[in-house]
Amino acid sequence: MNVSMVVAHGPKGEIGLDNKLLWHISEDLKNFKKITTGKMIVMGRKTFESIGKPLPNRSNVVITRDENFKTEGVIVVNDPMMVFDLALEAEEDLGVDDFEMMVIGGGEIFNIFMPYTQKIYLSEVEYSGPADAFFPPLDYEEWEVTSNEKMEGFTFKILSRI
Ligand SMILES: NC(=O)c1ccc[n+]([C@@H]2O[C@H](COP(=O)([O-])OP(=O)(O)OC[C@H]3O[C@@H](n4cnc5c(N)ncnc54)[C@H](OP(=O)(O)O)[C@@H]3O)[C@@H](O)[C@H]2O)c1
Repeated sequence: MNVSMVVAHGPKGEIGLDNKLLWHISEDLKNFKKITTGKMIVMGRKTFESIGKPLPNRSNVVITRDENFKTEGVIVVNDPMMVFDLALEAEEDLGVDDFEMMVIGGGEIFNIFMPYTQKIYLSEVEYSGPADAFFPPLDYEEWEVTSNEKMEGFTFKILSRI
């Protein structure tokens, strides 16, 4: 099993404000869909609320401390480490050994899973404005950029842990 992250952040790691995204870049949303479709996506309860519904054609996993949290079309876990059990089960069901679990945010959840993450699909966005949610700072000695592409409105990079 591999843990990957998908994030779009500004120059200071900005990812959100008032539980919303900071920009609307349709090419990035298309890219996000392409990267995550058919995969298991893992998110914090706040990110789930901000999206507002389970994303189609993906297995949606929401992390919350609320033991009563229930929503149709979503797997809820109270312990973040439970997602590894879910991923292992999915991996076994699929009969593969390279199952890619996609952590999609937000800031709290990126922090929790960073130590387990081998790959980051990163959209770098030009932004100068307020934010209250951030991607954890990366130590670039631990990461190599394996892909770097200029897209409409953002630069898309793939980082792999060295
Ligand atoms: N630009 C991007 O790529 C991107 C991606 C995703 C999100 N975002 C933005 O990021 C912001 C949301 O990020 P955020 O950091 O505020 O929230 P978040 O990480 O989405 O969710 C935080 C919630 O996760 C649950 N949680 C956290 N740690 C936990 C633990 N140890 N055990 C159980 N549950 C735990 C808690 O839910 P409960 O309170 O229910 O217990 C907590 O309130 C929004 O603005 C969103 O738009 C941006």
